[in-house]
Amino acid sequence: MSPLHPLARLRASLVVLFLPLALQAAPVPTKIPAAGPGHAAIASAYPLASDAGKEILAKGGNAFDAAVAVAAALAVVEPSSSGLGGGGFFLLRRSSDGLETMIDLREMAPGAASRDMYLDRDGNPVPGLSRDSALAAGIPGEPAGFAHLAKKYGKLPLATSLGPAIRLAREGFPLYPRLRGGMEFKKNAFLKTPDATRVFLVDGEVPALGAIIRQPELAASLEILAKSGADGFYKGAFAKKLVDGVRSLGGNWTEQDLANYKVVERAPVIGHYRGARIISASPPASGGVALIDALNILEGFDLDKVDKVTRTHVIVEAMRRVHRDRAVYLGDPDFVDVPVARLINEYYAAGQRASIRLDKATPSAMLPGVDAPSPGPSTTHFSVLDAKGNMVAATITLNFFFGSGLMVPGTGILLNNQMDDFSVKPGVPNGFQLIGGDANAILPKKRPLSSSTPTIVAGPKGLMILGSPGGSYIPGMVILGTLHFMDGRNAQEVAGAPRFHHQFSPDVLQFESDALTPEERKALEARGHTLREGTRKWGNMQVVTWDYATNKVEAASDPRGAGVGLVY
Ligand code: DON
Repeated sequence: MSPLHPLARLRASLVVLFLPLALQAAPVPTKIPAAGPGHAAIASAYPLASDAGKEILAKGGNAFDAAVAVAAALAVVEPSSSGLGGGGFFLLRRSSDGLETMIDLREMAPGAASRDMYLDRDGNPVPGLSRDSALAAGIPGEPAGFAHLAKKYGKLPLATSLGPAIRLAREGFPLYPRLRGGMEFKKNAFLKTPDATRVFLVDGEVPALGAIIRQPELAASLEILAKSGADGFYKGAFAKKLVDGVRSLGGNWTEQDLANYKVVERAPVIGHYRGARIISASPPASGGVALIDALNILEGFDLDKVDKVTRTHVIVEAMRRVHRDRAVYLGDPDFVDVPVARLINEYYAAGQRASIRLDKATPSAMLPGVDAPSPGPSTTHFSVLDAKGNMVAATITLNFFFGSGLMVPGTGILLNNQMDDFSVKPGVPNGFQLIGGDANAILPKKRPLSSSTPTIVAGPKGLMILGSPGGSYIPGMVILGTLHFMDGRNAQEVAGAPRFHHQFSPDVLQFESDALTPEERKALEARGHTLREGTRKWGNMQVVTWDYATNKVEAASDPRGAGVGLVY
């Protein structure tokens, strides 16, 4: 017998470490205690928004009313990240009957949108058109989402839950460092519309810290929503004002587009990992599918028993594979057949797992191709749990900082630039370097694919509600957050843990400086990974946890941001 080649020996020892587990543990019944924790918890990206939720709970509202209050307050105090001009996803769980649903309030492409609308005559993307212009704005879903959530699931009138936000918009709030940084970044965009200039700048400059930011027009727009509900926003005089304003800025909205906007309730995607039930966002959000597929792949490895380099390598290989599938298969399910059931099936993951080499990175180019012809405070997540056990994981967004930065005259409403989340041309990376093809091509009324991953992890002993902004980084952050929670870390540790990321293309392993030691970096390079150290922190994760045995509830806001977790 010839002696084993050293590589073969390595492989043989790794096989011992990575004995494949049974393909997937039998699905566990959800054991979330029906009575609720007896305490409520809110984690959001800014204290005034968490306070707004608390105020509404104190008035007798449930988690769903509080979610309206938090989201509306964020539109005012964190206008860089979400707003009435944007959209998102609310993942809900109702304690009385265990109903789990996702409210899709994602933007819809205007009727005048077309596949090549951001390309020039030679078929090349026009720089900035899908991000910095009024043509970058999809039809917003957040106002309709608020009305739907309040009416169908809340206990209080919409007007009550919008109250704190209206007050904050009218009376103002003191400018804080994180928002001021975003305003500096977007100053030139604000100067393009008189309304944004007036609201966010003083003499053409970003005001000093502590300056009071008042938004009377936004207060009036919120009041219209409070008084007349979604119809007051999407139809009639206000809709006309929005359309005239957007068209005066070079946009293509029509009154018909606004009247056509529809909130859609969709079944969340469900998976299982080491005895936990994973409930997450379904398409047109891509994060839940990516999360569940990654966890299915990882369940076949004994992650606890391996060194950190091998653990990181395997997680990165799972991230690479799920992002490849995102680029190929995912899009708005109302327009394309998304093979969700296949992608979250454990046998599919077993095939992906089998293609992972433990000693070497798989170059992204070696995975079946994606068909080409043939930072910071943008987007926001919050997590709410009420004393009865109702819960909301919500990720809402204008896309990049302050969306396009353009403000619709007389409304206080910033336009999103969510159209950039479509694939403007097969194979051409968007603002997050994500690529896509036909499944995420632009069509009238279609919703752009999102990386949002609002998620509930119902473990055997306790539960976690989590999510984050961060564009393409989001699914990876939630994958890591879920692994940390299942390893027994608490809410603050989950929110604060250092992060690494891989999104298939570009084929690089990105990492926060404190995520990998110099030795670990070298070892990962030796396995064939191209490493890139992130120059800034990404994400702003908001985590709520509930331990069933003790009924201890924790709320943690990412230490990278300016938020707060409240428990009471
Ligand atoms: O829905 C999406 O995937 C993007 N519009 C999210 C953008 C984002 O998270 C920006 N945050 N830093």
